[in-house]
Amino acid sequence: MSRVVDIIIDGENYRAEENSLLIDLLIQEGIKVPYFCYHETLGADGNCRMCMVGIEGQKRPQIACDTLVKEGMVVNTKSDTIREVRKNILELELINHPVDCPTCDQAGECSLQDFYMEYGLHNSKITIAQKVKHDKAIDLGANVMLDQERCVLCARCTRFTAEITKTHELGIVGRGDDAKVTTMPGRTLENDYAMNVVDLCPVGALTSKDFRFAQRVWFLESSEGICHGCAKGCNIFIDHNKLKYKDDTIYRFRPRRNDAVNGFFICDAGRLSYKELQEMRQESATLHGREISQEAAKEAFHNLLLLHQNSIAVVIDANLYTEEIESIINFANTIDAKIYAPLDIYKDASFADEMLKSSMRAANYKTIENLGITTSTPQNATLIINCNHPQEFRADATINFFTHRRETQALTLPIAAYTESSGSLTNEDNITQYSKQAVFKNSPLPTISDYLQGLGYE
Ligand code: SF4
Ligand code: SF4
Ligand code: FES
Repeated sequence: MSRVVDIIIDGENYRAEENSLLIDLLIQEGIKVPYFCYHETLGADGNCRMCMVGIEGQKRPQIACDTLVKEGMVVNTKSDTIREVRKNILELELINHPVDCPTCDQAGECSLQDFYMEYGLHNSKITIAQKVKHDKAIDLGANVMLDQERCVLCARCTRFTAEITKTHELGIVGRGDDAKVTTMPGRTLENDYAMNVVDLCPVGALTSKDFRFAQRVWFLESSEGICHGCAKGCNIFIDHNKLKYKDDTIYRFRPRRNDAVNGFFICDAGRLSYKELQEMRQESATLHGREISQEAAKEAFHNLLLLHQNSIAVVIDANLYTEEIESIINFANTIDAKIYAPLDIYKDASFADEMLKSSMRAANYKTIENLGITTSTPQNATLIINCNHPQEFRADATINFFTHRRETQALTLPIAAYTESSGSLTNEDNITQYSKQAVFKNSPLPTISDYLQGLGYE
């Protein structure tokens, strides 16, 4: 480990590891520094020149992303010279940038807009007609659209496909005004993590086909959640909005940094999994495929329990929150039912890879194992209470707690999806994480614990 040294930034004392990157210290300490090409995972590329700072003893301003911390270094990020340098570099970035902000999906979360407000505010020396034109709305594949005019050539996207996914679909061709991002000849963007380039792109050059024109970002509320697509438990932002007279709706999932789990990224399957949370939902209690009242459902529930006592099995979905699993176990013990959580159905070797995706497509299977719940299928029960497990089981009678509609004649009670409730999950690496309720529906559905409480079991 390197030694820790003292440095001075804008007159304040800081301590940092010798030879660490100056830009990391600035970011970590919340000292404003504009940058396009640097990224904590992709490292320094030094191409955008936006991160200029003054360093005592150096004749010219230096880029912070390629400057190593040294003992006694004196750094200036706020002098008039530095502001002027940043302004001029920004003007260069903007010379050929189209005036697209009113229709650009990145507006509101665009580094170029933010830096212009902070350091630019200049009148352009060239007219709109003089700007170099490039192609717009190019479908790169994998749900990613490219607008070449908006690109600031930071090379984050090309470095992502070269260094992270190692699929090498993207490159920068041409020189000067003619330089542009494109796919390699005969190729499309095609890898399981491709949509991360949309988050990496600091401007609106790469946008998600799925999210384009769906919502203005300043209307969205970002809640912190955990993806349930597999046992990795990637940290996500759940971006949602409740429009007037409409219901709370999710518009996108985005990766949320957690260096112990998913770093900066998520897979595309997990990113798009928000859609199924809003489709084909079980919204009311049903029996024989027909809607019934809450009272009738309650009565049918009690009657079935009475009729099958001593022959009941409760089956638990390995995606439920730990708190939910615990209250189901308490309930099962109260009614003398056996508890099962078959895991085989979640195994999917074709989904797994060496980056994030796990072959166990159940977010909380580790809790099932840690609690020692039987993972075989239920035996010899005449009544099965299925707590959202994806499998169908044979028995004389069934009670289902389902988030989504399925073909069934059995008594079925609708429950909240994971974004509509809170709880903890333990991922495949035994890391326990908490997921907060993000979505608040106009007519909220109960969790299984809520139901059990209402039925007098807790
Ligand atoms: S498309 Fe975006 S991420 Fe790629 S080089 Fe251009 S600005 Fe950078
Ligand atoms: S790797 Fe798994 S947990 Fe992570 S985003 Fe993909 S599906 Fe979700
Ligand atoms: S962030 Fe330093 S040159 Fe781009």
